[in-house]
Amino acid sequence: MQPRSVEDYRGLAARRLPAFMFEYVDSGSCAEVTMRRNRDSLNALALRQRVLRDVSEIDTSTELFGTRWALPFALSPVGMAGMLARRGEVQAARAAREAAVPFTLSSASVCPLEEVAAGTGSPFWFQLYMLNDRGYMQELLQRARTAGCCALLVTVDTPVLGTRYRDFRAGISNDPWPVRAARLAGQVATKPAWAWHVGLHGRPHMLGNMAAAVEAGSPLAAVAGWMQSSLAASLGWKDLEWIRDRWSGPLLLKGLLDAEDVRMAAASPIDGLVVSNHGGRQLDGAMATAEVLPGIVDAVGGRFPVLVDGGVRSGADILRMLALGASAVMAGRAWAYALAAAGGAGVERLLQLISQELRIAMALAGVTRIADIGPDCLGGFSRTHETQGRTI
Ligand SMILES: Cc1cc2nc3c(=O)[nH]c(=O)nc-3n(C[C@H](O)[C@H](O)[C@H](O)COP(=O)(O)O)c2cc1C
Repeated sequence: MQPRSVEDYRGLAARRLPAFMFEYVDSGSCAEVTMRRNRDSLNALALRQRVLRDVSEIDTSTELFGTRWALPFALSPVGMAGMLARRGEVQAARAAREAAVPFTLSSASVCPLEEVAAGTGSPFWFQLYMLNDRGYMQELLQRARTAGCCALLVTVDTPVLGTRYRDFRAGISNDPWPVRAARLAGQVATKPAWAWHVGLHGRPHMLGNMAAAVEAGSPLAAVAGWMQSSLAASLGWKDLEWIRDRWSGPLLLKGLLDAEDVRMAAASPIDGLVVSNHGGRQLDGAMATAEVLPGIVDAVGGRFPVLVDGGVRSGADILRMLALGASAVMAGRAWAYALAAAGGAGVERLLQLISQELRIAMALAGVTRIADIGPDCLGGFSRTHETQGRTI
């Protein structure tokens, strides 16, 4: 049966991936309160059904940073996507190119920037984790420029890595290497298709952009440990100037959740931001992105685009986030599941499904252009809450 939804792709991904890889994608931090809250708050947002409004011509295109895209939707960065399918980042970037939506390459990708640039032949966005080694960061920014990346997303919600219990339970743990290796090998043995395509034909490096920094062939837990010790926990507002001096294109901060931080961001040299709690993988107990979005949009006051991710699983979710004031919407797990389930073809099909869902949701909500989507699209109980203090 052809998958019809993100949930279908999630089920297929669970069947195809070894348990430790599926848990890596699917899990949130600690008790996963924030991860669930992202979904629950979107589900709680009622949409207004409108009728007799001539919806024969629907236009989902939108402009962002000087480019016209087919949808107000972009692929969020997902680290190590090349472990979900062989050369996974190249496959996903090609699917995004076909759908005319932005693809964001994680700095923690398996395929290096240069390989994705050569494999797609069209510009993509690049996400940066700031590491302690400034010389290395400078080099990476230069490589992103040379690869033709057309926007830089600096992730700021990750001064340290969140704890994900499910990763530990699945075997990405601190157990002695022979114990860990035996557990992981046992899981891989049950997934021969993945073992063949990704495991055996896999890459010498798990982090292609950082191959020089990480020892070749490091096991997954060692890579995680390396990331943990290399992230620049000292990163502060003043460091944005350092990045700005080395990046002249659109510069976005990814991972803001608090209106006070957003006011600081508005005074810094940036061109946009992504409201995000890392899909509930960092501070467990933090607010859902849909809850804080209206307040953040107010604080930004139209100075630059506000993007958002967190729990987005359908075209109707995109409509909800746009109605809360987002300029565009992003998603991580949705495309990661599709990539794991069916490679680039899966991501391409998922983007078609999401596009269709958005068109249908817009038609039934009585809006025909992205610019017409606003708080008026929200109705009923949640709208009452939304008008009182701009929270749901
Ligand atoms: C498996 C996985 C890996 C991720 N890797 C990164 C990353 O390398 N850089 C980053 O900024 N965010 C990363 N994120 C967070 C996503 O970019 C995005 O914020 C999050 O997935 C949005 O929530 P959603 O998965 O519910 O759509 C990752 C998320 C997942 C699920």
